Amino acid sequence: MNFTILGTGSAMPSLCKTNDDLSKFLDTSDEWIRARTGIEQRYLCGEESITDLSCLAAEEALREAGIGAADLDLILCATATSEYRIPSMACLVQERIGAQCAAFDINAACSGFLYALDIAAGYYARKKVKHMLVIGADALSEIVDWTDRSTAVIFADGAGAAVLGEGDDLLASRIGARGNRAVLYAENVKGNSPFRMRDSEDGAQCEEQYIHMDGQEVFRFASASMTRELKQLMKDAGLTGKDVSYVLPHQANRRIIDFASSKLPEIASERFLTNIEKRGNTSAASIPVLMDEYNKKGTFKHGDILLLTAFGGGLTTASCALRWNGKQYNK
Ligand code: COA
Repeated sequence: MNFTILGTGSAMPSLCKTNDDLSKFLDTSDEWIRARTGIEQRYLCGEESITDLSCLAAEEALREAGIGAADLDLILCATATSEYRIPSMACLVQERIGAQCAAFDINAACSGFLYALDIAAGYYARKKVKHMLVIGADALSEIVDWTDRSTAVIFADGAGAAVLGEGDDLLASRIGARGNRAVLYAENVKGNSPFRMRDSEDGAQCEEQYIHMDGQEVFRFASASMTRELKQLMKDAGLTGKDVSYVLPHQANRRIIDFASSKLPEIASERFLTNIEKRGNTSAASIPVLMDEYNKKGTFKHGDILLLTAFGGGLTTASCALRWNGKQYNK
């Protein structure tokens, strides 16, 4: 036994910024950003915190699932940008929504939500839980260097959530990592220990706390791994391209999604779902937000087979195949 998805929810900050808005203070242009990433606009935290968004997404997912916070047995939150180091974001959400269950965070960068689903499957297999809340939430705007045009135009904020119940709808799940600090990193805030003898690894100062990214290297890793992981996932689940109803890829760059789609011609390209145009790269929120959006549009029908696939800092990869049995919405 593993799980079925009972309900989904998502929340975006109220502040929406277009490419033109960014080109007012960065040496960039709407034309460049659209052509190189597919992004037209993104939502960024202004007044709201990432905890606020996570709670909104969680409450919506609970409503859609038809259960209350008191029915939850475990809350898992995937994030790399929690407001606090202590307590975890999962505990902050637990308190705010009025749940009483265990709660903890995981960090697998943009692959985090799918890592969390993989962990969830273990709790169901051990029959430790009936209802779980899994959140993917990030506010990358808080750790982006807003003078660095190569990252500031890509990353964005948001939160997505799914409420799980007992079922058998996880057909296969894969997680992986290729440890690499150099190509995508942001250091933690340092304390003021009088005993600290070492500097940052590069001998650098506090700007290391911003995101650093070797875009081309990440692009190469992402394109190769997304294709490889989707092929292996189908094999693990005993599926062919014809069985696949939709692919929900991490929304990092439209060109990465198009590349993976071109290498998998047995899955029609329109089956690769996107919202990167309007949302940008929301890291761990990317896939649950995409799932919630297409769910509410009535895109998914009972029995549909969904392939979810992500990559991110770490470098991490994760993917899973799900049978859709959630609440049915009208188109
Ligand atoms: N606006 C205008 N020009 C920009 C720019 C911007 N926002 N960012 C970079 N450029 C410039 C570069 O300075 C470079 O100029 P040069 O040729 O004069 O040196 C040129 O555009 C090409 O840069 P390059 O880095 O080769 O661009 P790219 O086509 O690889 O696109 C990324 C850059 C970041 C969009 C792309 O590499 C990417 O998406 N990588 C994957 C990142 C990712 O997925 N991250 C998330 C991981 S979860």
